[in-house]
Amino acid sequence: MNTAEMQKRQAAAAALTHVEDGMVVGVGTGSTIRYFIDGLAGLRSRIEGAVSSSEQSSALLRAAGIPVLDLNAVGPIPLYVDGADECDLSRCLIKGGGGALTREKIIAEAAQTFICIIDASKRVDMLGRFPLPVEVIPMARSMVARQLVELGGQPVWRDEFTTDNSNWILDLYGLSIREPEALENRINQIPGVVSVGLFARRRADQVIVGGTTATR
Ligand code: 5RP
Repeated sequence: MNTAEMQKRQAAAAALTHVEDGMVVGVGTGSTIRYFIDGLAGLRSRIEGAVSSSEQSSALLRAAGIPVLDLNAVGPIPLYVDGADECDLSRCLIKGGGGALTREKIIAEAAQTFICIIDASKRVDMLGRFPLPVEVIPMARSMVARQLVELGGQPVWRDEFTTDNSNWILDLYGLSIREPEALENRINQIPGVVSVGLFARRRADQVIVGGTTATR
C-alpha cells in the first residue's frame, strides 16, 4: 500500500473514533470513504444507520450491513465524514471529483459536525489546481459554460458522466481561488447550476490528514 492509501486509511480510522452509540452518520463518497465504510461495518450494531451521499456509497453501506436512511426521515445529522479533492488552511474544500457534490453538500448542510478525511496530497495553500466541479441541469450546459468562462475558468464537460441526480458536470480548470466563499456564491447564482464543488460557506469543521487532526 502506498503512502497516500495508508494516510487515507489512517484518517478514516481516526474519524471512526468520533462515531457514538445510536448515531445517524452522514457518509461521503470516494476512495477514502471506502476505508471509513469498512470500519463503520464493525460498528453497525451500535449506530442507527447512515445517510449516504451517492448510489456508490449506498451500495457499499448495504453490503456492509449498515441501514441506509432517508435524510427526510431523520433530523439533523450529528456527524458527517467525507473526503475532498483539495483542502486549504481555512478548511475550505474542493469536492466532487467523484461527481457526488450535490448530495454531499446537502448532507454537509444538515450535519452538526463535518469531518473531512484526506491524505497529505490534498492539502493546498490555495484552492484551484484541482478542476472545480459544477453540476448543471443538462439543458443549461453551454450557457453555464459561457458564464464560467467569463469568471476566468476553462470549463470542460465531464465525458460520459451523469450524476445520481441525472445531471451533468462541468469541470472548471485554470482557477486560483483567492476568495472561495465569494466564488461559491457567484457560481450558485447562475441559473442551471445545481451546485458547485466549493465547500466554503459550509466548510469542514475538522480536517484529519492521515492520522493527525490539522490544527487549522
Ligand atoms: C466525491 C468527492 C470525494 O470526496 C473526493 O473526490 C475525494 O475522493 P477520494 O477520497 O477518492 O480522493 O468529493 O464527489
